[in-house]
Amino acid sequence: MKTDTAPVRLSDYRPPDYLIDTVTLDFRLSPNATRVTSLLAIRPNGDTRRPLVLAGDQLKLVSVTLDGAPLPKERYRATPDALEIADPPQRPFKLEIVTEIDPAGNSKLMGLYRSERTYCTQCEAEGFRRMTYFLDRPDVLSVYTTRIEADRTEAPVLLSNGNPIDAGSVDGTNRHYALWHDPFPKPAYLFAVVGGDLGVVTDHFKTTSGRNVELRIYCEHGKEDRCAYAMDSLKRSMRWDEVAFGREYDLDIFMIVAVSDFNMGAMENKGLNIFNDKYVLADPDTATDGDFAHVEGVIAHEYFHNWTGNRITCRDWFQLCLKEGLTVFRDQEFSSDERSRPVKRIADVRTLQARQFPEDAGPLAHPVRPEVYHEINNFYTATVYEKGSEVIRMLKSILGAKDFRAGMDLYFERHDGQAVTIEDFLACFADVSGVDLAQFKLWYSQAGTPEIVANGSYDAKARRYTLSLAQNVPATPGQSTKKPMHIPVRFGLVGPNGEDLAYDAAVGAAVTGDVIHLMEPNQTVVFSGVSAPPVPSLLRGFSAPAKLMMELPPSDLLFLLRTDTDSFNRWRAAETLAMRQLIAATTAVRMNGAPKYDDAFVDALGEIAENDALEPAFRAQALQLPGEADIAREIGNDVDPDAIAAGRNGLRAAIASRLAARLRRLHQALGSSMPFSPDAASAGRRALRNTLLDLIAGDGATEGIALAVERFRAADNMTDRMAALAVLCHNGAEARLEALDAFHRRYAGDALVIDKWFALQATTPTPDTLTRVKTLLDHPAFSIGNPNRIRSLVGSFAAANQTQFNRPDGAGYDFVADFVLDLDPKNPQTAARLLASFRSWRALEAGRRQKAEAALNRVVAAPNLSRDTRDIITRTIA
Ligand code: PHE
Ligand code: ZN
Repeated sequence: MKTDTAPVRLSDYRPPDYLIDTVTLDFRLSPNATRVTSLLAIRPNGDTRRPLVLAGDQLKLVSVTLDGAPLPKERYRATPDALEIADPPQRPFKLEIVTEIDPAGNSKLMGLYRSERTYCTQCEAEGFRRMTYFLDRPDVLSVYTTRIEADRTEAPVLLSNGNPIDAGSVDGTNRHYALWHDPFPKPAYLFAVVGGDLGVVTDHFKTTSGRNVELRIYCEHGKEDRCAYAMDSLKRSMRWDEVAFGREYDLDIFMIVAVSDFNMGAMENKGLNIFNDKYVLADPDTATDGDFAHVEGVIAHEYFHNWTGNRITCRDWFQLCLKEGLTVFRDQEFSSDERSRPVKRIADVRTLQARQFPEDAGPLAHPVRPEVYHEINNFYTATVYEKGSEVIRMLKSILGAKDFRAGMDLYFERHDGQAVTIEDFLACFADVSGVDLAQFKLWYSQAGTPEIVANGSYDAKARRYTLSLAQNVPATPGQSTKKPMHIPVRFGLVGPNGEDLAYDAAVGAAVTGDVIHLMEPNQTVVFSGVSAPPVPSLLRGFSAPAKLMMELPPSDLLFLLRTDTDSFNRWRAAETLAMRQLIAATTAVRMNGAPKYDDAFVDALGEIAENDALEPAFRAQALQLPGEADIAREIGNDVDPDAIAAGRNGLRAAIASRLAARLRRLHQALGSSMPFSPDAASAGRRALRNTLLDLIAGDGATEGIALAVERFRAADNMTDRMAALAVLCHNGAEARLEALDAFHRRYAGDALVIDKWFALQATTPTPDTLTRVKTLLDHPAFSIGNPNRIRSLVGSFAAANQTQFNRPDGAGYDFVADFVLDLDPKNPQTAARLLASFRSWRALEAGRRQKAEAALNRVVAAPNLSRDTRDIITRTIA
């Protein structure tokens, strides 16, 4: 285990001393002793005359030769972590390295490992060095030729990046081989091999320029018919990238392999994407509408990396958002075009607020482009991904669609085949538009969620509307003072009958189209020629990842909820109204008072529910109250999760009773006998109906529960079945136990579905849940070796069960801390992620805070922590 703690700093970057033009690999697959032979064509990069230091990680060197001759012992030094040659030739030379590795013993799921019986690799960020010594950094680009050899029975399928160029038998044995060549130079993190006995689904795609691409999805035998939606998503993604960004696929074949043991969602290895099977396999009986949407989104995301990440890659890992933020933006846009743009936006903002805002507000806050890290694995975060995408979205808002596209075109043209930086990326947009992006660039370096305080007033006599805006970026670890940001505030001045009011001129800030460019700490914008008193609709479409603080009276919010032409802000108005009441209710509960809820708000929800002019998926979003964690985040300190839950349940009950008849009528009317289809409109109808079911059950009365039991029995698809079961579990209904048993009987043996069963039990807000979760650790379907099982059972307990994880007795914290300690030696990456669920511990009320701190102190005191976990724990308690 590595214990070095020297941080890596962006400011220390220097180009590699050597380059590797070609890599010729030979993998002799065998469960415990795989031979890796690597022939490197190396040349000095300029005249540095420095030693050649190739990175390794727990490696065992077998032999090393230089230009065909064994390298004498005194010329090199090999440790598990490095192979160092003090005086390599200062001309091009060939180095052949043989190592031996143990894929079956690899529980970290980095490098070459086995998932079930399939050999597969994960090299991002620093996994390649777990197979052979290499210049394992993204600015070293090489052309790879890979031979894989294995037992024919054990691994009839042998895959690597690029195009297949040869295959055959190894004479006199039961072994065979395949040879792959990838003509596109790439960094080692995009390398992959797969070997196994797998089923396959094939298809093909014709590119705009007429090239035929073979498409293959590999999966466990027997799961082939669950790959159809993934294949369809892939073809739609390929077409979309041609239309939206002018990007064609570039190899003769594109392959996806679904494996069941994977630390993350999926990986964009060139021509050979490897996926967590959860994001490939989907059919109506086993996957929810949400799962279908995730499959589509992740397939698109990995495919889009072919240009944003692979053809153009990152110079160093500090530039991670260069590929990730941009590619998230691209997959979000794809799903918006394929589904409903407003609904997708609301869902994405919900995710951002739930995952990124707490990160930005806590001890793990970091800029979209970090400047220092101890362990890069810990920077695959919501900030890099989701906030990184928001930064691209703002860039587009600031430049406009046309210049944005021109900047992207220039980026592809100028940097194809290179490893570049955020500076290179932004220069393309500055060059095509002439816009100075210097201030905008602060979004990459300043952590923290900006707050915008807005105030407006209307002068009827002068027909003038004055809007004052102030921005503030809170301090974050290592950044105590901040500079003002360039914040695009999309806006409308909504007139009395719901139309956006025109104005003659806006003075006090640059306004382009419907965007105010907030660039100073305080700015006052005066709109002249405004014919009536407007209600301001600000930050439309969530035009910046900021918190808007504007004390609009409830009547104005209700007005926006009913009339704003911007759907996002209609939703936002509902969310704001709900949040205000939920926070007030929490306070009331803590002071032993009785929370009060606003009938006008509840009635407006009823109106939204029944408004047939609105798409069902939007109505479902508007009717879903902020979650307990959302409320905790908004309260921000002295958080009492039990009070939050009580206040929220109170509002649910108020809605259920006041709207009882209307909700039931609508729920009834939405029942349909149409056969299941995963398309967005059908999914939206199911979402609305299931949201109504959840609201109906909110009064805790038996009628709603009976309805859920009935829905559970009658469901002919996983979406409805899960929604009903969730209602039973989340209301702690007695009937859940029988339903959970029935669900288990039906799906035993189907690991991905049993994950749902684990997660529902782990998120049940009853006091017996912790005991149940502990018992389930011994369930035959649970395995500490599989990250999906861990995330379903332990991850969802820690992240999605506010009252039970935060039990006042601290037992929830102790359980998760103990589990992290148990997991850490086996899979540090997943352990560290789990530990990050403590990130908001300082915001808790004193009693829980002390319990959480005690648990964290036990973790930090444990011997031999991995670098991943040590990094997270150190920052969490700093
Ligand atoms: N690069 C992967 C993506 O598409 C994520 C990933 C990171 C996967 C590290 C595995 C390991 O976002
Ligand atoms: Zn990605």
